[in-house]
Amino acid sequence: KNYKKDTQKKIENLPKSRLPQALIIGVKKCGTRALLEFLRLHPNVRAPGPEIHFFDKNYHLGLEWYRQQMPLTLEDQLTIEKTPSYFVSKQVPIRIHKLSRDMKLLLVVRDPVTRAISDYTQTVTKWPQTPPFKHMAFLNTSTGLLDTSWPAIRIGMYSHYLLSWNRFFPSRQIHVVSGENLIQDPGGEMAMVQDFLKLPRVVSNHHFYFNQTKGFPCVKKSENKGVPHCLGRTKGRTHPDISSETIERLRDFYRPFNQKFYRMVGRDFMWL
Ligand code: A3P
Repeated sequence: KNYKKDTQKKIENLPKSRLPQALIIGVKKCGTRALLEFLRLHPNVRAPGPEIHFFDKNYHLGLEWYRQQMPLTLEDQLTIEKTPSYFVSKQVPIRIHKLSRDMKLLLVVRDPVTRAISDYTQTVTKWPQTPPFKHMAFLNTSTGLLDTSWPAIRIGMYSHYLLSWNRFFPSRQIHVVSGENLIQDPGGEMAMVQDFLKLPRVVSNHHFYFNQTKGFPCVKKSENKGVPHCLGRTKGRTHPDISSETIERLRDFYRPFNQKFYRMVGRDFMWL
């Protein structure tokens, strides 16, 4: 007599594409790929490799399209997607909230000065004709006035962007990951991430080794690759030398935003 109920259960348990229950929303160049790849080591996590850009660029394609981008999962597996531009896109928080007010949000951050240089370094690899960092960063080099409309600088104003997320999501639904600590102590940082996602702590320092040549933690083995491997060549680029005056100017600019951000998230990242 429980035939109908049993069939229902079986159907729910079949592998199928499901909408995400958690998102890595940013920040660009702070270690979002590392976080996603480390999460994918967890047997209860599945995630698409590419950035889906649903809530910003592809929203018009609709929810069914979004769902189809997701890997097959069983009922007890978490679907996660990462698109770092979500963090700085105005329409995104309300759109996510409309889909699920329970969405778990992961945000990786890093010293905004290093983040700006990392972002610039990426631009230079794509467009080698890009002017020097200093020319991009300052509106006026003699007055030291920064061009805060330049995305490389603007994206680092974390407290500014976080405000618009807090309008839709309470702080307990946004877990902030230290990009620096994800390199220093990947196991420790991943423990907090797994707790936040209510996953058993499976991913630990046993999964990583520090690759001296790469200068970063790398993975001993994953489901796809049974051999040790690091993130690709586009992760962990060499940064150009930037003058100490420019760095100081950027530090002064970000300081109030950083202080406000620490208060908002309740963690001091100790950026200089
Ligand atoms: P750099 O290339 O400037 O060093 P994202 O994935 O969000 O684009 O972030 C890229 C940054 O992730 C890299 O910036 C690097 O510093 C950081 N990162 C963190 N953990 C890493 C790891 N295990 N391997 C390589 N890069 C890592």
